[in-house]
Amino acid sequence: MKKILIYIAMQSEAQPIIDTLGLEQVSILPAALPMKSYQGEDGKQQYLIVTGGKSDLYDVDNVGTEPAAVGLQAALNLFDADLVINAGTAGGWQNKGTNIADVFLGKSPVRYHDHRIPIPTFEAYGKGSYPCIDTSDLAKQLNLKQGFISTSNSLDYNEDCDRLMKQNQADCKEMECAALAWVCHLYQKPFLPVKAITDFVDGEHPTAEQFQANLARTCEALRDAIIKILKIV
Ligand code: ADE
Repeated sequence: MKKILIYIAMQSEAQPIIDTLGLEQVSILPAALPMKSYQGEDGKQQYLIVTGGKSDLYDVDNVGTEPAAVGLQAALNLFDADLVINAGTAGGWQNKGTNIADVFLGKSPVRYHDHRIPIPTFEAYGKGSYPCIDTSDLAKQLNLKQGFISTSNSLDYNEDCDRLMKQNQADCKEMECAALAWVCHLYQKPFLPVKAITDFVDGEHPTAEQFQANLARTCEALRDAIIKILKIV
């Protein structure tokens, strides 16, 4: 059976997918880690969903690159996945024709827009440039968009982020994908990012307000896309 590992940072992004696939919570990850894991199968494929879990210090979901990298690495040591999917939400750009709840499949390369190391030999390393699988056929079959994904550890952005997001031709601004793509590069795992848009980076309203207002319906769109993708991959 094909093994599919799905990393999802936030519980509210993951729960509709966990429920639809009928997965059971399991305790397979090292006890020290806050990430949660859910397992199950459908006769054709075996699934492991890993979420970032909650921070015991701050009582919020463990979003961002460190939990993503640590969680995926721990999971890959226990579950030798044939495919790694990153499902999550992202900011998008109105001026590129994006709508709220649009779902994007990632395009190579996945990059950072906050790892600025202005030393010539380190600059490219800082930006990163990590591959994902070719999603052209999948996008056509499911009528989904394809886009470049740009990662940082901030929900907001400054002028430098903006400059680098433009360089990255970003369609999706989010907080985990490049770190996960790096782990997949190390472990030589095919990587498929799937991002659903909760907010406009170029919108008039504060990102946090847009994010809260659109989260539920965007997570439903994300679930619908993931379920269709799992029938094809
Ligand atoms: N996740 C959802 N929207 C986001 C944004 N605008 N920036 C970073 N991560 C996000």
